[in-house]
Amino acid sequence: MKIRKAVIVAAGRGTRFLPITRSQPKEMLPLVNKPLIQYSVEEAVNSGIEQIFMITAMGKRAIEDYFDRSFELEYVLEQKRETKLLQEMRQLSNLVDICYIRQKEQLGLGHAILATKDIIGEEPFAILLPDDIIDSKVPALGQLIEVYEQHKTNVLAVERISRQDMMKYGIIEPKKVSESVYQVLSLVEKPEPTEAPSDLGVVGRYILTPQIFDAIEVIPSGKNQEIQLTDALQLLLKQQTVYAYEFEGVRYDTGTPLGWLKTTVAFALKNPDIGAELREYLRQLL
Ligand code: G1P
Repeated sequence: MKIRKAVIVAAGRGTRFLPITRSQPKEMLPLVNKPLIQYSVEEAVNSGIEQIFMITAMGKRAIEDYFDRSFELEYVLEQKRETKLLQEMRQLSNLVDICYIRQKEQLGLGHAILATKDIIGEEPFAILLPDDIIDSKVPALGQLIEVYEQHKTNVLAVERISRQDMMKYGIIEPKKVSESVYQVLSLVEKPEPTEAPSDLGVVGRYILTPQIFDAIEVIPSGKNQEIQLTDALQLLLKQQTVYAYEFEGVRYDTGTPLGWLKTTVAFALKNPDIGAELREYLRQLL
């Protein structure tokens, strides 16, 4: 079955970014000239996704407004004969069909995903966590979809994680299947480095079968008293195969102020309009 639907989880409080996140969702922080969330939406669209379900929460309305159509803005741009900009703005609001679901209590990633159970229905679907931005030739989600199409079962994106960062990720116990593809034998959410079953950590891209919802419904709270997607996957392993795929591309973690800043610099340096000048400026600073 074709992967048509994707869930983007944008419900986190963004406490690491306080005070700015008092009145602005962290997903709307800029990465050069676009908000962070747009990168995930574009990755999904470029991977063939037709419908996005975005999990939001209180204080996230700016995201909905951003992807909506703005007649007022279009009118002003029309009057000013800003044809190119007008076209860009129209394209943005026509990117894809997005449906918003509010998570009323933030009880963890698994809990957020469960909110889409009825609308996803009986088909496999994708999940994107927008803190993870992946720069690659073929969109990372598209790479995962290719693996899904070969194996017709759950696929998680993974990459090598340094020892000191293992406590930030779900870590898998892998069994190599082929170049870059592993069968997942078990998973642990945010282990101590000494308890990690490998150095392959889950990055925020998943293709899952709808049976994940049944698993989420029965698992108790796990790490940090949250309903963890990792625990649901561990349960799902008892009845279904889960693969992990070491994708091609560079992953940036924008979930912390320093990570966001590093990503901003990396993307700005690659930008043809400002890259050269920024490089010169940084050289002078140093
Ligand atoms: C979540 C998942 C974790 C995964 C990570 C990827 O953690 O729980 O298993 O490795 O995303 O970014 P979070 O970053 O929400 O704490």
